[in-house]
Amino acid sequence: MTILVTGGAGYIGSHTCVALLEAGYEIAILDSFQNSKPELLKRIKEITGKDFKAYDVDLLDSDGVERVFSECSIDAVIHFAGLKAVGESVANPLHYYHNNIVGTLVLCQTMQKYGVNRLVFSSSATVYGVQETVPLTEDLPLCPASPYGRTKMMIEQILTDICSSDSNWSVALLRYFNPVGAHPSGLIGEDPTGVPNNLLPFVTQVAVGKLNQLSVYGNDYETPDGTGIRDYIHIMDLANGHLKALNWVTLNTGADAFNLGSGTGHSVMQVIKTFEEATGVKISYQAAARRPGDIAISYADPTKAKRLLGWQTERSLLEMCVDAWRWQRNNPNGYQSES
Ligand code: NAD
Ligand code: WQD
Repeated sequence: MTILVTGGAGYIGSHTCVALLEAGYEIAILDSFQNSKPELLKRIKEITGKDFKAYDVDLLDSDGVERVFSECSIDAVIHFAGLKAVGESVANPLHYYHNNIVGTLVLCQTMQKYGVNRLVFSSSATVYGVQETVPLTEDLPLCPASPYGRTKMMIEQILTDICSSDSNWSVALLRYFNPVGAHPSGLIGEDPTGVPNNLLPFVTQVAVGKLNQLSVYGNDYETPDGTGIRDYIHIMDLANGHLKALNWVTLNTGADAFNLGSGTGHSVMQVIKTFEEATGVKISYQAAARRPGDIAISYADPTKAKRLLGWQTERSLLEMCVDAWRWQRNNPNGYQSES
């Protein structure tokens, strides 16, 4: 079975490619490398000892996408390719709507032309926006707070409409919570461009000495220690979720949404303390103002994914910190030095 992985050179895509190859799938990667490095492809081969096709193609280039479909006999698609920086999407919404939505339309049109109708899509917990209660369940009304989040909500709707129009289609809409950590080999991991926006990459870059101090955004939230609570999920657990979702789209039709989270929330201070415990490295931090747009508490109700996909998380926050640190320590400049 051959799986097309769009955005397969990115953070989540690369770890999922490893899991797919290790499970015996053939893969083809389509990526424009606008937020990733070709060096990564060598690392996937090094970890798995397996070869695969990789295309430097932008999803906005319909001829390029068609070439991939004509050269590979694709059975199903996992669609990671997209832009994901919330702040950037507020500053440049047209760029985000164009890349994420038009890219998905080109992909689906080409899938339709080639009779490929099984799709696993990277949505995000950001589609929930601010809600009255936690844990978050899939049936809540969606109200994303940024253009980025709205691209995810709109794409979910587009894919659901395609499934309603054609009963041969099957789409799993995966709403990821906060993916962190790295492959235990330390060969692949998260490699953000510039100063990281997300908590754990910031913490690992402070630990390795690239950044001086972490700002803890808000210590006056209504949480036990006053800092924000999120549902962190190990990247390899998330990668395995895609294998389960692939199974689901093979056996079912229609569109359905699944939370991929652990069901447990951890505060910023718990992350810092767990990282220090996992690595023996002290993290310098200071309290700072709340980050605009942040919410106090977000964590998943993951029971639907357990019930219908047969998936749940297995790795602890401590393992997330150990693996994130191994990656950062072994690759202080990410993939840059070798690209
Ligand atoms: P990433 O930026 O590391 O990977 C995305 C990949 O897609 C990159 O390699 C990039 O070059 C590629 N890409 C972007 N636009 C493209 C286009 N038009 N054509 C071809 N390739 C293109 O991001 P990630 O963290 O691996 O996220 C993967 C997906 O999961 C994204 O859709 C993201 O929105 C979603 N997601 C991420 C998180 C997170 O915290 N990392 C959380 C929820 C959802
Ligand atoms: C986690 C906690 C911060 C950085 C974002 C996107 C979301 C999704 C995942 C794609 C919060 C605090 C952070 C720092 C801090 N991406 N923090 N100092 O905001 O839950 O989600 O990434 O879909 O769309 O919004 O994750 O890692 O940025 O923040 O104190 O330097 O860490 O305030 O409480 P977030 P995060």
